[in-house]
Amino acid sequence: MSEQRKILIEDFSFYYDSFQALRDINLKIGAKEIFAIFGPARSGKTTLLKSLNRLTDLIFGGRHSGAIFLDDLNIYDPKVNLTQLRRRVGMVFDLPTPLPMSIFDNVAYGPRLKGSIPKRRLSEIVEKALRSAVLWEEVKDRLHTSALRLSGGQQQRLCIARILALEPEVLLFDEPCSGLDPISTASIEETLTQLKKEYTIVLVPHNIQQASRVADRAAFFLNGEMVEEGPVFQIFTRPRDKRTEDYVTGKFG
Ligand SMILES: Nc1ncnc2c1ncn2[C@@H]1O[C@H](COP(=O)(O)OP(=O)(O)O)[C@@H](O)[C@H]1O
Ligand SMILES: [Mg+2]
Repeated sequence: MSEQRKILIEDFSFYYDSFQALRDINLKIGAKEIFAIFGPARSGKTTLLKSLNRLTDLIFGGRHSGAIFLDDLNIYDPKVNLTQLRRRVGMVFDLPTPLPMSIFDNVAYGPRLKGSIPKRRLSEIVEKALRSAVLWEEVKDRLHTSALRLSGGQQQRLCIARILALEPEVLLFDEPCSGLDPISTASIEETLTQLKKEYTIVLVPHNIQQASRVADRAAFFLNGEMVEEGPVFQIFTRPRDKRTEDYVTGKFG
């Protein structure tokens, strides 16, 4: 882990009514690392990501115990401003969902909601976000055309740019390449690697290979339990737990 811790998860459990989807999770995520959460379907990966910016608050019948800290902020403190929290911790979903408007307006959408911004400043914000998402060179000559005409991989990078325009600190990615072809997948992975220089990234990878290509550290989840965590090279080549070994060697999916 990098020197500085960004996220601390302490004895965290999450329930959908009486069903326990996360069991006593303890995990530290360092600043400016890519941390992968991997495991079979229904192991609680999405629930954990959504807990990190309290998107789980929207679930009727959902409740948690334990704590999650972002720097020194206890994010479940009743005094926390949710809009601010979700600006600091942005989430990219599996399927890209650009708004039916121009490329420029998609990226400018969030900053405009914050209040009126001089035109020149807004253009700077949009360009910076598109550059960080490694999309600028591909779209700079058609910023005012519809975002819906972009390819799937470009749309996903646009969604990343939309979040970057809000100046987040942490980016959550939930299988961001699941609908993409190999070339688009490679472009997203390249973007992730670039983003790591400035942001803390928590990634639910598309598969184990993706985790080993881009992540620094990883945690294996199974049935809501965190089985083990560690540096990627260790967890994929010398797992400590038999269940991790069985999963990474393909004995079960
Ligand atoms: N909104 C929901 N209501 C009830 N149960 C849910 C809901 N979302 C997820 N679950 C259950 O919680 C468990 C973990 O789901 P999820 O976090 O989506 O896992 P993963 O992302 O690893 O596939 C699963 O058993 C799933 O059925
Ligand atoms: Mg999921």
